[in-house]
Amino acid sequence: MKVTVIGTGYVGLVSGVCYAEIGHEVTCIDVNQDKIAQLRKGKSPIFEPNLEELMNKNIHNGKLQFTDNYLDGIEHAEVILIAVGTPCKQDGTADLQFVESVAANIALYIKKYAVIVIKSTVPVGTNHYIGELIKKNLVHDTDFDMVSNPEFLREGTAIKDTFNGDRIVLGSDSSKALAIVEELHKQFNIPYFLTDTRSAEMIKYAANAFLATKISFINEIAKICEKVGANVEDVALGMGKDKRIGEHFLKAGIGYGGSCFPKDTKALVQIAGNVEHDFELLRSVIKVNIGQQQALIEKAISYFGDLSEKKIAILGLSFKPNTDDMRDAASVVITDKLISLGASVIAYDPVTIENAKKILNPRVTFNTNINEVMYDADCVFILTEWDQIKQIDLRVAGRLMKNPVFFDGRNCFTLEEAQRAEIDYFSIGRSAVIRNFD
Ligand SMILES: NC(=O)c1ccc[n+]([C@@H]2O[C@H](COP(=O)([O-])OP(=O)(O)OC[C@H]3O[C@@H](n4cnc5c(N)ncnc54)[C@H](O)[C@@H]3O)[C@@H](O)[C@H]2O)c1
Repeated sequence: MKVTVIGTGYVGLVSGVCYAEIGHEVTCIDVNQDKIAQLRKGKSPIFEPNLEELMNKNIHNGKLQFTDNYLDGIEHAEVILIAVGTPCKQDGTADLQFVESVAANIALYIKKYAVIVIKSTVPVGTNHYIGELIKKNLVHDTDFDMVSNPEFLREGTAIKDTFNGDRIVLGSDSSKALAIVEELHKQFNIPYFLTDTRSAEMIKYAANAFLATKISFINEIAKICEKVGANVEDVALGMGKDKRIGEHFLKAGIGYGGSCFPKDTKALVQIAGNVEHDFELLRSVIKVNIGQQQALIEKAISYFGDLSEKKIAILGLSFKPNTDDMRDAASVVITDKLISLGASVIAYDPVTIENAKKILNPRVTFNTNINEVMYDADCVFILTEWDQIKQIDLRVAGRLMKNPVFFDGRNCFTLEEAQRAEIDYFSIGRSAVIRNFD
């Protein structure tokens, strides 16, 4: 099948590469010319395990090409997938300007029947709105159908998720278009869930809002655990063994971040508001998450009293491991706050330092050597559970530091490991470990 993917970000690039891998002829379009030039040289602009290898394999076997020219991409396409960003505006609503711009280009260049699939996360009614927009502006007299196909891949495991997803959600009122999009995904061998367009659009927001709710819920439980002397890790394990609850997304920490949960939860609150429903529960989920980013700072203030002049080593900057994505990462808020409190901040991350430099406070300094970052520090903050961070020897690390004090926002170590290392160790939802000076 001839497939065109518009937008080569985390979703578009991974999807394009995976469609090529299962045998389709894929053209990826992006307006960012630097990105296209880089992709043509076989360099992935994002860090995603196995992406670059699979991309190069398919470029070399002629299944995958990149262009910034809409005409090249759209003219012959049987399926056109829209995977551009839908960031949130100031008021939380999804900004559809990139999707609208794609619609204008499709209307200009489409010459024969194609199925237009929206993969971007878009508010309910957007597929209908974009379909009407294209129809109104069509230059050539042709037919097309719209299909909503929300994307559920997770950064860090995006390739694996594309081949092993739990379901492929497809929403459309055209059975012809649905059959074509089912055929497109056939080789993935993943069950389809077919529904109407509005329900498909809603499934994506509802799924992300529910997962965000699980995270804020366990973070609230964590706060209570700290006060009553329970261990949130055990509480989550014990809860998760109940199949009705499930073990995933019950990891207490400094909250969710990234390019999806923060914006999609805010957008759903707005979608509800537009139909006069106050989504009180989701507003609380968002509020809890914002508060949770302060958890380590509060612990550090209560330990030291004052953070001015303290040298704080930050381990991990990306919003989660195995990605270089800094969008809505907790590290942005935390490093800003530490600097405003007078601390000096030095940061380590195994892959995202170049991205971090563009958005973190300019007073943050960086180093790719984890031991040098911890050297002479008053304390360490762990913000991302990269393997490289989980594998540090706490005892050795403690000896490098001025004070062996750890504030772990991702519960990377057991309390026993912290006790054995003779460090002061503060984590989320568990008792503090304090050195014994006897
Ligand atoms: N990132 C994720 O993990 C994830 C997961 C599921 C769903 N989504 C959704 O998928 C969509 C894309 O997310 P992303 O993270 O891949 O975005 P992204 O910001 O990484 O990439 C978007 C790409 O679109 C390009 N673009 C913008 N306007 C364009 C235009 N008019 N024509 C061609 N290209 C254009 C940009 O240059 C960029 O390369 C969003 O709606 C997001 O909510 C993202």
